[in-house]
Formats: sequence, C-alpha cells, structure tokens
Amino acid sequence: MRNINHDRICPVPGYDKHFRFCRFAGIEMIPVPLAEDGPDMDLVEKLAAEDEEIKGMWCMPKFSNPYGCCYSDETVRRLARMKTAAADFRLFWDDAYRYHWIYKDHQVLDILKECKACGNPDRPFLFGSTSKITMAGSGVTFIAGSKANIDFIKKQFTSQTVGWDKMNMLRTVRFLQDIPHLKEHMAKYAEIIRPKFDAVLNTFDRELSGTGAGDWTKPDGGYFITFAAYPGCAKRIVELCRETGVIITSAGEMHPSGVDPEDKYIRIAPTYPPLSELKDAMEIFSVCVRLAAAEKRLAEKDGLQ
Ligand SMILES: Cc1ncc(COP(=O)(O)O)c(C=O)c1O
Repeated sequence: MRNINHDRICPVPGYDKHFRFCRFAGIEMIPVPLAEDGPDMDLVEKLAAEDEEIKGMWCMPKFSNPYGCCYSDETVRRLARMKTAAADFRLFWDDAYRYHWIYKDHQVLDILKECKACGNPDRPFLFGSTSKITMAGSGVTFIAGSKANIDFIKKQFTSQTVGWDKMNMLRTVRFLQDIPHLKEHMAKYAEIIRPKFDAVLNTFDRELSGTGAGDWTKPDGGYFITFAAYPGCAKRIVELCRETGVIITSAGEMHPSGVDPEDKYIRIAPTYPPLSELKDAMEIFSVCVRLAAAEKRLAEKDGLQ
C-alpha cells in the first residue's frame, strides 16, 4: 500500500532536517545524486514525469548543505519547465545560503520568474532566513511564491499563530537595512569564515591528496565541506574520531532515513570550533581517514569483505 502523504525527490547528500521532516510527515524520499551544477536532471525529469505520487522536491539552489554546489542556469530552467505527472508538484526552494559566499559569489537564476515564464507559477515555494546572518535560532524567516501559494500559506499561518515576533523583525530590519548593507555585513561574515575553510582545505591537501583515501568538495560559499571517504569507511572514520574526542556529524545524516548506501559521505562543519582546535581536529580527522582506508583495503585484500 502506498503512503498517503506522497513522495518527494531528495537530492543527496542533503540537509538532515529536510529528511527528518519528511520522515516525521510520512513522506517517502527518493534520493537523486547531486553534482557540481545541481541534481541529476535526467533522473529528476524521469521521476517527476512518470509518477503522479511524486509531489515535490527539496532544492538548495545555492551553496547547498552540505555539498556546497550552486544550481546552473540550465538546471533551474529544466526544473521550471519539466513535465510533472502530478499537477500540484512543488519545488521546496530552500535558499538558506543565498548571501553566504566565502571565496566567490555565484548568481542563481530566479526560479519564480522562470516558472512563471513556463506557465508554472505555482511550482516553487521559496524560503530562507536570517538564521546564519544575524543569530542562529533567532533569525527571521521569509517565504515567497505566486499569489495563489502565498494566499494558501497565509491561511495556514493564521491557524498556527496569532502574531509574529515583531520586535525581532524590527531589530532585523533596522540592523540589516537593505540589500547593500546586508551584502556589506556578509562580507564581514566571509572574513570570519574563510580562515576556517582555508584550514580544513589546506590540511586535506597536505595530508590526503593522492592517498586515494578520500576526496572533498571545495565550495565557494555556504557552511560545509563534504568529505567523500573510501567507500565503506565513513562510519569507521567518525567512530575513530570520536575515540580521540573529535566529534563529527554522524555518517549517514546527509541521506534519507540516515542510510548512506556507500557509507562514504561525511559533513565537515568548520564554523563552530576556534581556529586552533579546528586545525588539530582536521589533522586527527585526516589520520583517521587514512587508517580507516588502510583497514578497509587490507580487509578487501584478505577477501574478508
Ligand atoms: C538548508 C538549510 N535550511 C534551513 C536551515 C535552518 O534555518 P532556520 O534556522 O531558519 O530554521 C539550515 C541550517 O542549517 C540549512 O542548512
């Protein structure tokens, strides 16, 4: 029997809370691989066209969590114009990292404009927040879409709350003022974050380049670096790190239902620890990566796998 809450396309690796929400709501998740220019669009188009139970798709168009990729113009246009078996198919366009460049900014096409041009104005729900612009956990959230979608959302909000945190909204508007000020603010953010990303990337280059023990993304912005370990090693690496006191997001978190079929992906979040601790942690991580890969290769050689 099919679930009653419909299915959703989930580019992977992706954001654990998107997946947790789907699980909570009983929505079946269909993983689709992500690449440098966005999700595998041949597969997305095929899935969306052939199954009317597929009602939507998570999208993180810019500096996606945790991959760090940005959707190309072609990806955005294909998402806007693709044929969907479900007439009410929706793109959940989570633009959480729109202003979070670190090395270089990227422009992503306006999905609402593209959808309107293709006669699909109600396809995208766009949302984001100032959570990583002002204060995590006390940011202001915003949502955009066609008039029909906003009318629909407003009806829901009316039954969810009687009023907003208007003082926080006012504080946010007075502090950020307008887009040029927001960009100025985010340039300071980039100054703070860049040395931390440098530390991770330089350590990986020095300790892991050419070892075959793993590969990693080099995003131009966002909050994360994705580490792709030697297949079958991600859980072991996280465990080895934990034994030394280096705590890393559990392996599998970036996949629907917490299952990474290749046991390969690890999310590195460099922003929280002080720089000196981060450098130590990444040296330890690199040792654990090499150790886990050596164990795995030995086991493979011995025919134990
Ligand atoms: C893609 C994405 N969406 C949303 C959020 C959280 O936003 P908020 O704090 O506004 O719920 C995050 C934070 O990690 C995120 O990475």
